[in-house]
Amino acid sequence: MQPHLVRFSRVGLWIMLALPAAFMLARLAQGEALAMDLFEPSGDMAVRLIVLALLPGPLTDFFGPNHLLRNWLAVRRNLGVAAFIYALLHLVLYATDLGSLAAMLDEVGLPGIWTGWLALLLLLPAAVTSSNRAIRLLGLRWKTIQRIVYPALLASFAHWLLLESSWQKAAIHGAPLIIAWTLRMTRHLQTPRRKTI
Ligand code: HEM
Repeated sequence: MQPHLVRFSRVGLWIMLALPAAFMLARLAQGEALAMDLFEPSGDMAVRLIVLALLPGPLTDFFGPNHLLRNWLAVRRNLGVAAFIYALLHLVLYATDLGSLAAMLDEVGLPGIWTGWLALLLLLPAAVTSSNRAIRLLGLRWKTIQRIVYPALLASFAHWLLLESSWQKAAIHGAPLIIAWTLRMTRHLQTPRRKTI
């Protein structure tokens, strides 16, 4: 693709990624929703985007690179950074709802809450090393850092399950990855290993 078309489609992607956040903030600003009403959409978006960022790796391993998967892989970093931004928005909404650092520290020992903090901390290294410059500087270590997103996702599912009485929604969000990893494993059992994350 021409460089200006790549830039244009990336701007379009970021506009799409920003829209749900813009709607949430508009509802908050107009008094249609309280900060606590937005925990759910912001947390859901963070998890959805992590899942979307992790899916093309195993799918490419199974199906081989095709046009769709190549384009999906090309925007994987954007999806990961957007996931981190939604997780930060989720935290800002939580801080707004609680209203003070003391109240937040009071809750930090609860399993449903510290697992959220852990998920955020584990997302941080991949988010801060998402630039082209970081890829060049870190070389092979860059991929190792990106793999920390897997434990981050596990921590966010633990956080979700500990806070929510119903597990069905979390299971629906995790199912595509479980299917993709199962497909990847069947491919690895049949052929020598190809490397993607
Ligand atoms: C930074 C620390 C975090 C804190 C203090 C926190 C806090 C909370 C709270 C209070 C809720 C609402 C529980 C309820 O109303 O029942 C919640 C829900 C949720 N959080 Fe977090 N969270 C954090 C980080 C994260 C991260 C990093 C993710 C994902 C990457 C995440 C994903 C979710 C999800 C998916 C839900 C459930 C939404 C639903 O009901 O569908 N949280 N969180």
